[in-house]
Amino acid sequence: MKNLEEYVRSIPNFPEEGIIFRDITSVLQDKDSLKLAIDQMQDTIKDIDFDIVVGPESRGFIFGVPIAYNLNKGFVPVRKKGKLPCETVEMEYDLEYGSAVVEMHKDSIKPGQKVVIIDDLIATGGTIEAIVKLIKQLGGEVVKIVFLMELEGLNGRDKLKDYDIEAVIKYEGK
Ligand code: PRP
Ligand code: MG
Repeated sequence: MKNLEEYVRSIPNFPEEGIIFRDITSVLQDKDSLKLAIDQMQDTIKDIDFDIVVGPESRGFIFGVPIAYNLNKGFVPVRKKGKLPCETVEMEYDLEYGSAVVEMHKDSIKPGQKVVIIDDLIATGGTIEAIVKLIKQLGGEVVKIVFLMELEGLNGRDKLKDYDIEAVIKYEGK
């Protein structure tokens, strides 16, 4: 069987010139790599004490739900603004051009709960930084953050210095 890394499809100059897009659809569509990805992400948290998994729309859902299910935990979706029906807390964060807003339900995390955040990718770290702030606001404690992939050249970890971060696949560049 191939290594997990070999299943990630790299597309040069998408969505713009000079960017290499790390495509996970090729990982998801193959039964072996789908299993490798979920298992390897899950392995990083199998021995830690936590209560609930949080994952951002949309690629964070793909990995967060199966891992929460396998470890017998609940899953809390972080959504882009305007999608959640009950009372929410929201946080704005920077994108390369402009900004975006993410929301969580106010009652999704109980004070004192230990939270693991799961997403497919850390690039600039802006998305997860916003989510960490929301979880804190709700009284939760982030005990670990797990990604399938990390773009080390964008230094996303610098925004998350106080946290325990794990990435299964690391790319040196952007
Ligand atoms: C992508 C990716 C991460 C985030 C990483 O999501 O899935 O969530 O960007 O970037 P950052 O570290 O610079 O914040 P995107 O917002 O493109 O949405 P998607 O998951 O719905 O595709
Ligand atoms: Mg995403």
